[in-house]
Amino acid sequence: MNTLALLAFAVCAIFLRYLPHILRFMQLQRFSKTLPGPSVGELIANVKKGEILNWLKELRLRHGPVFRIWFGKDLMVFFTKPEDIKQLLSNNALLYKSRNYELVEPWLGKGLLTNGGESWHRRRKLLTPGFHFRILGEFKEPMEENCRILVNRLKEHADGKPFDIYPYITLFALDAICETAMGIKKHAQMQSDSEYVRAVQTICRILHKQSFSFWQRFNVLFNLSEAGRVRNAALQVLHEETYRVINMRRKQLQQAQAEQLAEQKDQQQDNDVGGKRRLAFLDMLLLSQMEGGSDLSDVDIREEVDTFMFEGHDTTSSAIAFAISLLSKHAEVQQRVYEEAIELEGREKESMPYLEAVIKETLRLYPSVPFFSRKVAEDLNVGKLTIPKGAAVSCLIYMLHRDPDSFPDPERFDPDRFYLNEQQLHPFAFAAFSAGPRNCIGQKFAMLELKSSLSMLLRHYQFLPVAGHQPNPLAELVMKSGNGVRVCIKPRSTAN
Ligand code: HEM
Repeated sequence: MNTLALLAFAVCAIFLRYLPHILRFMQLQRFSKTLPGPSVGELIANVKKGEILNWLKELRLRHGPVFRIWFGKDLMVFFTKPEDIKQLLSNNALLYKSRNYELVEPWLGKGLLTNGGESWHRRRKLLTPGFHFRILGEFKEPMEENCRILVNRLKEHADGKPFDIYPYITLFALDAICETAMGIKKHAQMQSDSEYVRAVQTICRILHKQSFSFWQRFNVLFNLSEAGRVRNAALQVLHEETYRVINMRRKQLQQAQAEQLAEQKDQQQDNDVGGKRRLAFLDMLLLSQMEGGSDLSDVDIREEVDTFMFEGHDTTSSAIAFAISLLSKHAEVQQRVYEEAIELEGREKESMPYLEAVIKETLRLYPSVPFFSRKVAEDLNVGKLTIPKGAAVSCLIYMLHRDPDSFPDPERFDPDRFYLNEQQLHPFAFAAFSAGPRNCIGQKFAMLELKSSLSMLLRHYQFLPVAGHQPNPLAELVMKSGNGVRVCIKPRSTAN
């Protein structure tokens, strides 16, 4: 009898414990019936095919600008119209990322990308000065130095024969972020292969599959699987490399501080280390830890370095490579950028208006981050909808950028949309760097890197298309071309 009573009590307790979740799930179910969207079966079939972006495009055409998808027990509502995107991105209550970002936490922890609420706010305030305009000025030289190495490495392909330029660009972008924000010379371009880049590719591929798989979302099952084993091995490579970078820079800073202290004593004069001088990203984190100005632990610093190493090279390499692919297919646009690059050489930090338009048009067609999502923590009004607490909302940038009301004939590559007609665009029609409080902290850095690399590459080479090759965009964490970015190159006679 006692056992039965205990059992009944336990069942009731469990039921009461989970009652709010059950009620919320039922509310989400009721709400989801008011929106169009595919069945779970259709989701599974398309994940198997691996054509998520084409499928999302099809869903937009079939269901209109707002639709929903159930990912297991998670309901996600997708938005594609500038007015809705404006409401979402300007909303200060939408500061938490949705549950699917938890999948990258074993790698990036609670770095700036995945963090939320007050903790995110504190970190964002701490890190923002690391990308100040004045700091970017100091980054131009190391970036250009790495561009020169890239130009030299490409010489072996300057015979007009097709090759995949993507691996060259990735190594360049990795060296650029290490040498600027991290203050470390990595020389990835000097190696034929980078274990770090391979590990990033592995982890992105696995995370992409995991995010669309039902059983792989259970950590215990996933860790026992082959995919889990491969991911953990890649994680080890990535974390070891991050700690290596942090320790190397810490040693350099300690040495510099000791030397400066000695110099100060000799000369009895002030200096500005840790004071008004602007510090680059990693120095800022390390000095604030070393001088007790923050409560950052080594793990906190590792998470931010992982986040910035990843976001800081994967996004820009994708954008540079897709831009080269588009320029190779549009000779007249390439000629205009080339002429501007010759005329305005050295102005990459200020203005190169036509190249900027080409970059935006590239990011319109191939946004490095094709969608991003937020958790709905309180019932949320968007347009005529009230989205219940517990759902997630997603800005489907890939389709926002293909909205024919903003961009007529959306698949056509036409930089004049931004060069001549940008003023007429809705302010949220283009959102490749997101917008509002959680916008991309590295967007000025990214534009500088894109302008420096593309203008220098164009001054040295002419890019030609490879017949029959069309990049196949895949929506991994960052958009990639599944079949590489194949082009032919020929040296320019103007190259010095
Ligand atoms: C073409 C290049 C880039 C594009 C298109 C891009 C795009 C974006 C987008 C759309 C977001 C919002 C993501 C979300 O809400 O989930 C974002 C966030 C972020 N990006 Fe970028 N990004 C680029 C380059 C960079 C670079 C070079 C860095 C670092 C140097 C960087 C660092 C970050 C970080 C740390 C966040 C999280 C910011 C926060 O939540 O406070 N990005 N980026």
